[in-house]
Amino acid sequence: MQIRHIFLKISNTLVFLILFLVANSQTVNTGNIPIGKFQSLKAGLQELEIKGENGYIKVNVYSANIIRIRISEKVPADDFSYAVIALQTTTKTNIEEDVNSVKLTTDSLKVIITKDKLHISFYNNKNQLINSDDEFGTLTTGNEISSYKKLFPDERFIGLGEKTGDLNRRGNGYVNWNTDVFGYGPGTDPMYVSIPFFIGLHDSLCYGIFLDNTSKTHFNFGASNMRFSSFTVEEGDLNYYFIYHSGVEGIISSYTDLTGKTPMPSQWSLGFQQCRWSYFPDTEVLNVARTFREKQIPLDVIYLDIHYMDAYKIFTWDAIRFSQPENMLNTLKGMGVRTAIIVDPGIKVEKGYTAYEEGIKNDLFLKYPDGTNYAAEVWPGVCNFPDFTLPETRAWWGNSFKNYVDQGIIGFWNDMNEPATWGQKFPSLVEFNYDGNGGNGLTGRNIYGMQMARATYEGTKKLLANQRPFVLTRSGYAGIQRYSTVWTGDNTPTDDHLLLGVRLLNSLGLSGVANCGVDVGGFAADATKELYTRWITLGVFTPFFRSHKAYNLKDSEPWSYGEETEAIAKYYIQLRYQLMPYLYSEFYHASTTGLPVNKSLAIGYPYDNKIYYSTYQNQYLFGDALLIAPVRSTENFCKVYFPANNYYDFYNDKKFDANSEVIVESPLHRLPVFVKESSIIPMQRTVQSFDQKPTDTLFVHLYYGKLNNEITYYEDDGVSYNMESGVFYKRKFIFNSKEKSLTIEKPEGSYISQFKTIQLIMHGFDPALSDILIDGKQGSLSNTQKNMVFPEEAYKILYFANRDKVSVKTINLQNFNNKITLNW
Ligand code: GLC
Repeated sequence: MQIRHIFLKISNTLVFLILFLVANSQTVNTGNIPIGKFQSLKAGLQELEIKGENGYIKVNVYSANIIRIRISEKVPADDFSYAVIALQTTTKTNIEEDVNSVKLTTDSLKVIITKDKLHISFYNNKNQLINSDDEFGTLTTGNEISSYKKLFPDERFIGLGEKTGDLNRRGNGYVNWNTDVFGYGPGTDPMYVSIPFFIGLHDSLCYGIFLDNTSKTHFNFGASNMRFSSFTVEEGDLNYYFIYHSGVEGIISSYTDLTGKTPMPSQWSLGFQQCRWSYFPDTEVLNVARTFREKQIPLDVIYLDIHYMDAYKIFTWDAIRFSQPENMLNTLKGMGVRTAIIVDPGIKVEKGYTAYEEGIKNDLFLKYPDGTNYAAEVWPGVCNFPDFTLPETRAWWGNSFKNYVDQGIIGFWNDMNEPATWGQKFPSLVEFNYDGNGGNGLTGRNIYGMQMARATYEGTKKLLANQRPFVLTRSGYAGIQRYSTVWTGDNTPTDDHLLLGVRLLNSLGLSGVANCGVDVGGFAADATKELYTRWITLGVFTPFFRSHKAYNLKDSEPWSYGEETEAIAKYYIQLRYQLMPYLYSEFYHASTTGLPVNKSLAIGYPYDNKIYYSTYQNQYLFGDALLIAPVRSTENFCKVYFPANNYYDFYNDKKFDANSEVIVESPLHRLPVFVKESSIIPMQRTVQSFDQKPTDTLFVHLYYGKLNNEITYYEDDGVSYNMESGVFYKRKFIFNSKEKSLTIEKPEGSYISQFKTIQLIMHGFDPALSDILIDGKQGSLSNTQKNMVFPEEAYKILYFANRDKVSVKTINLQNFNNKITLNW
């Protein structure tokens, strides 16, 4: 009896204990707070606001394809964005509420928000699930707000701007926190630039998510977990734009509708640019430029790094090294070489130094909470830092370029704008104006570089009157493409970096930045001869093409590595100039569509597994026609994958079948380059710089293929804004494979083309083909043997004497102003 009693007592106590634990476990505070259950709905024409137990969701329809979601603790108020310049467009929207959910529908998308947990799902108009919250939905954890999304089994993630790692970002996590990462490695994160925009792909569906928040943001694409992808803000609202289209191109286009397109660059800035930390004194600068001219290696821009200034003080000249800058600049100009200078944000604290005095007088610097100016050390010593988020500072900064502009400088290279300071610990408490909205080191840091580039762009644009300025930046945020070209900072001369650089540029391209480049040759140390050579050949096929290298290292000009490298560099840089009509037209396309010039294969072939293989993930299209297969400098053979199109070898017209994997030769003088079937590539003869006009023939290369294709050929004066008032020359070339025709439409615009003759060069067509009808009248094709397909002068270089011979069909057409149709 006793025992039974004791037993009962114990078991009662146990039950009680268990009940106690269960009851308490429900109230344990884990720090994760969901938005909770639905409370109420306010619906407008194309927006809605839901109140949950612990927060609010606001949904705005920007267009049928772009939905903005904002989640915060308080009612999301009117806000401010540095990135988004688009306004909501009037869009047919339907909002319904039932017992379980709230639904919002446009012509392209359906958004469902469940009432039990306020989970959000996105469907397309075929009712396919594109993206949905994981069971965790949106959680506030401490100060952070995160959105957890269901991870689909085959889901891949691409983009996210300047991020190291693989093309497919699945299994990895990233932080956006602009950082000076000298000599970064293939896995370094964070980097200099933050673009919180990525594209997800699964089940032949794709979507984009742009998290517009300048604080430190985190992205997790299934890293250290098997169930979700997520994104997190450390400060402010969880504010994201969900973009859906049936293809990746549409997503990038919509993203750049929101954040702006890369504007038409000056044409000379697409030429070759030579940089060094630092060319000085003036005679050295002139010598380098002269050597390019003597050796007939084309060059458009030379750079002055920090040594041109007096004690690294911005807006000054070193009086000894550059005693007569105008003379030097004029001599360079006479050679057709333009000059760009580096500009760093740190303003030396020094009584009597104009920029410092003006900054103090007008109260333009970043501040501590006690009202004193934030100071830290960088190149000039102790510096104050302009608050570029204050409109007055931007105006002052922009106008301070007046002397430089008057003297003839036209390129402005914005460096150290993360901002970088010795010690690399920018304090969180530093206060930013944030365009009147108030910010601090937590919210201001990621936007600093972009606002510096903006101030430089807006200021120099005004000063240069009707000329397009050239701005280059190391740091940036979403939308940076509106103001500046981006380069990927202090890379290192290794083969891994050569390949990483390609992925960085392709990822920037997926994230709205069409104009970008790397330090060709590798910045942080001496490259081998082979690596420099390979890098130059690859640089030809990147949007911004600049060679640069750090201080105290060996010379690094195309002739510094011996004769072989010089010959190869000369040939490939010439090729860059021959491709200028193609490249400039591609930039026109980028400026109107927002699509990149360096196109990851994930744009055109997103659901092809092979393009993500480590062997192939670096391949990309340069423009619409050229497939580039980057290869290490040590490899004379490389494996290339041709996705769902036939391709031709650029050098000998050899044809490769779609979906084939092929081993090709890749000696240093032959970067593997291929042409997509049905491509139309306009080219010109080599020039030494933009100022030298090419011969009067435009060479239009047409490649046989079963697909129809068209391009818009574009020309303008290359420097001014006159194209905005119609002074351009724009012309469609339309290839119809079945009808066996090429139509050259009537040109649009009032600019007169620099070319008087169009030479059509047909590749891969039936060898027996000889007759051609020109608007119905008989014409004839010549059979031409070429040493190389494109570069007319290439055979003059001994090195290339034994190149492959190619048979093509050519016909010369006098440039004409009406539509013309060729049939064969
Ligand atoms: C930074 C830049 C580099 C430049 C150097 C000196 O490291 O990234 O390009 O040459 O500063 O100004």
